Amino acid sequence: MRLDSADDCAEPMTHDRVRSLSLSSLPMQDPKEPEPLWLEVDRALEDWLGPDDAALRSATASANRAGMPAIAVAPAQGRMLQVLARAIGARRILEIGTLAGYSAIWLARALPADGRLVTLEIDPERALVARENLARAGLSERSEVVVGPAADSLDALIRAKIAPFDMIFIDADKRNCPVYIRHALAIARTGSLIVVDNAISRGRLIDSSTGDPHVDGLRAMMDFVSHHPRLEAAAVQTVGAKGYDGFLIATVVDERLPTIAG
Ligand code: SAH
Ligand code: DHB
Ligand code: MG
Repeated sequence: MRLDSADDCAEPMTHDRVRSLSLSSLPMQDPKEPEPLWLEVDRALEDWLGPDDAALRSATASANRAGMPAIAVAPAQGRMLQVLARAIGARRILEIGTLAGYSAIWLARALPADGRLVTLEIDPERALVARENLARAGLSERSEVVVGPAADSLDALIRAKIAPFDMIFIDADKRNCPVYIRHALAIARTGSLIVVDNAISRGRLIDSSTGDPHVDGLRAMMDFVSHHPRLEAAAVQTVGAKGYDGFLIATVVDERLPTIAG
């Protein structure tokens, strides 16, 4: 049930209102760079909760050596993904967007020994590096890097009637987020968890005027999620080593609870 009519006053900030906002009209600092305090807190969290080990550090180093952009999730975020996977007892995880396999290592480690991580990457060189990194982490047996445009790989997996995934982490080209979330639903089951990285993108999510396909892809994904009867979603804004961003976290349900009671 949705309350979308213009004369409804119970929810003043519907996504229809948000649609007209432009970030340039909002007073805010440039949130591109992480604040020193955010970095310090992320380091302290690593000290408390466990820093990167040799395999994760080596994945980051190999990405740098290969000239890949430094866009893997932060250690604290990798840990969050791992905790989420453990919390739902994930046995099968799908990742869309591999890079050097940094987040893949965090996710694959959450699996039982007979679990499976499938991760999709368009760039064959990155896929190669990721395979090496997963091997170095001792995770080759339970992981598979599939090379190709993710939309095609997803089509192939769906056509092959692959068993549903318990968790799907979407972290590839954001312009195709609407495609990926549709495919994710097709390859999930009731109770599956879908997590989307970079959902806030420094607040640009709410800017309707960027003309940036990355932002427009995220916005189209939010529109899709907000109307979908089988997705119950939350989004969290985050700050840390990766600056200002956030995650969309959705679970696949048989029937969604009403958004607003009464
Ligand atoms: N999840 C990784 C980071 C992924 S970065 C981590 O946190 O460690 C995004 C990746 O998506 C890049 O490696 C990029 O090559 C890949 N990518 C971009 N477009 C893609 C597409 N159409 N299909 C599959 N992968 C794509
Ligand atoms: C950026 C960060 C990401 O996590 C990603 O997947 C893509 C791009 C960025 O900061 O530009
Ligand atoms: Mg990302």
